[in-house]
Order: sequence, then C-alpha cells, then structure tokens
Amino acid sequence: MNTIILTGDRPSGSLHIGHYVGSLKDRVKLQEKGEMFVLIADIQAMTDNFDNPKLLKESSYEVLLDYLSVGINPMKSNIFLQSEIPELYELFTYFLNLISIHKLQHNPTIKTELNQKNFKTGLPLGFLAYPISQASDILAFKPTYVPVGADQIPVIEVTNDIVNKFNSIYAAEVFEKINPQLSDCPKLVGTDGLKKMSKSLGNAIYLKDSPDTIIRKIRKMRSDPEHIYIENPGKLEGNTVFEYLDIFYHDKENLLKLKNHYTKGGLSDGKIKDILAETLIEYLRPIRERREKLQKDRSYLNSVLRNGRERAREVTSKTLSEVRNAIGLASSQE
Ligand code: TRP
Repeated sequence: MNTIILTGDRPSGSLHIGHYVGSLKDRVKLQEKGEMFVLIADIQAMTDNFDNPKLLKESSYEVLLDYLSVGINPMKSNIFLQSEIPELYELFTYFLNLISIHKLQHNPTIKTELNQKNFKTGLPLGFLAYPISQASDILAFKPTYVPVGADQIPVIEVTNDIVNKFNSIYAAEVFEKINPQLSDCPKLVGTDGLKKMSKSLGNAIYLKDSPDTIIRKIRKMRSDPEHIYIENPGKLEGNTVFEYLDIFYHDKENLLKLKNHYTKGGLSDGKIKDILAETLIEYLRPIRERREKLQKDRSYLNSVLRNGRERAREVTSKTLSEVRNAIGLASSQE
C-alpha cells in the first residue's frame, strides 16, 4: 500500500514563521515519504468568513504562494482547493448522521473557537459541523499520516468516532483509525512574547514580510524588559529575541558567546535585535524571492491547483464509491 499524507490549512491570510517552524518545514520533508495532499480549506474558512468572499479567494492564493515558496513541490505533492472536490461534500452529508449536536457543542476545539468569535445572529450550523467536514477531508483520502497541530486533536477524535460508527453501522471496513502526527516543534510565541504567534493578535512575522517590516517588528519585540543599562546583566528566560535566535541562528557556538555576553552584561538589546533581524531577513530571503516571482504568474498557480484537484478527485471518488456500496444505496449504474 502506498503512503498517503494529508494535511491542510484554513486560508485566512498569508502564513507566518510560526506556521513555518510548526508545520511547513515538516511538510517539505514529508513529501519525500509518500504522496502528499495539501488541502486549502476554503470551505472550512467559510464557516466563519461566509460573509467575506473576497477575503476567501485572495487568502487561498496567498496560502498557495506560501506553500510553493517554502518548497512544497507540486511535482511531488498535490495542492488543491477544498471547494473543488464535490466528493468531500457528499461524504460530509453521510457523516452528518453519525455525530450529535451535543457532542460537537462540547468539543474543546469548537468551544475555544466559539469564545474567540462573535457570531452576532446565533451559532451557524456550518460552523458547528466543521469538525465533521474536516473528518470528511481526512477520511476521503484514507491517509497514513495526518500531520496537525495539537489544537486539532479533538477534531481527530470526532474523525475516529465517525470511523467507529461508520464501520460498525454499515458492517464495513472502509475506514481505519487516524493517528495524528504532532509536529515536534512547539508553538512559536509571537513578537509580543506573550501569546502564540497568530494573525489575529498582530504579533506575527509573515513569510512575505519585507526586510524593513521585519526590522520594524523586531525593534518592538519583547526582550528583557528589566535590562535597562547595557552594562547590567540581561536575562535569557522569557526573552523572545533569544528564543527566536535559538531557532533561526545557525552558528550555535557564536550564539552561546552572545548569550554569555548578554547575561554577563555589556551587550545591548538593540544589538541582539539587530542580529535577529539580520538573521531572519537572510533566512526568509529565498522564500520571499520565490514568492515575488510566483505571485506574478496566476496561470501557473491555477495549473498547480488544477493538477491537485484532478488527482484529489481520483482518490476521493474511489473512496466514495466504496462508501456508497457499504451504505447500500440503490444505484442506477448497476
Ligand atoms: N482545521 C485546519 C486549520 O484550522 C484546516 C483543515 C481542514 C485541515 N481540513 C483539514 C487540517 C484536514 C488537516 C486535515 O487550519
């Protein structure tokens, strides 16, 4: 059996360095291990942005550009739009019967997100049901690996509930239990040094940020707020500048020297921020350059999406015919 890897992101704007260290970097490696499918979850993004269609379209291209510029290779991996795979909607319809509203309302991922959002006219059914839609995204591909962030674990639990119910009700072995693959890199803290890096918190550095933007964001970053006089010792704990240097600065020996200097006193926060800015600008340079080039070629971008769509439909339509058979729907094709 060949190895299938399925993963994806909700397009809500361009991706940041937290996404890069948390998942994108892993995906570039994973695409060597099997056939990878990367889903741009525009239908899922609709569940909380249905009234902002322009944002959906542009964000989908932004995410695609980020994928391609970090090195997800469309010759090896299939990148596609969720909205272009009707099989996913069909599977969703069958799965809707297998999960109760009560269960979804108590799902930790849904609960956390509901607290952050403010649905003015009541809770939309589409939003409440998105874990079922995500279960369809996953199961339609029968993946071997599903790399996701820890926040997605409750959604994978819904997926596995569906696997159990489906297989037992329809006395079939169509689906296998999913074991999520958690990234070994913990969430990257934002430039505020307080919360996880996130678009909505305004504490993110984007893969597409220009050198000037990077410099500006890093100057405002949290280092050691008690390090007022350069000659005094500075602290490394809770110092976000050093946290980032640990991840992005390659010369570990020199980094140790910088840390010693800083904790002894005599190295300014301005200086370490300059070093970090320079490090990140260099780190992101090839990504940014590739992105700028690709951005101008919408027809190439669309060809990537078309190829992804074709292959995704090939795989999912096979699953769907097994599903219809297992359920025992009548068929005029017989
Ligand atoms: N929920 C994921 C996010 O918020 C996006 C997503 C949709 C996804 N379908 C998926 C992730 C299937 C992995 C597998 O980004």
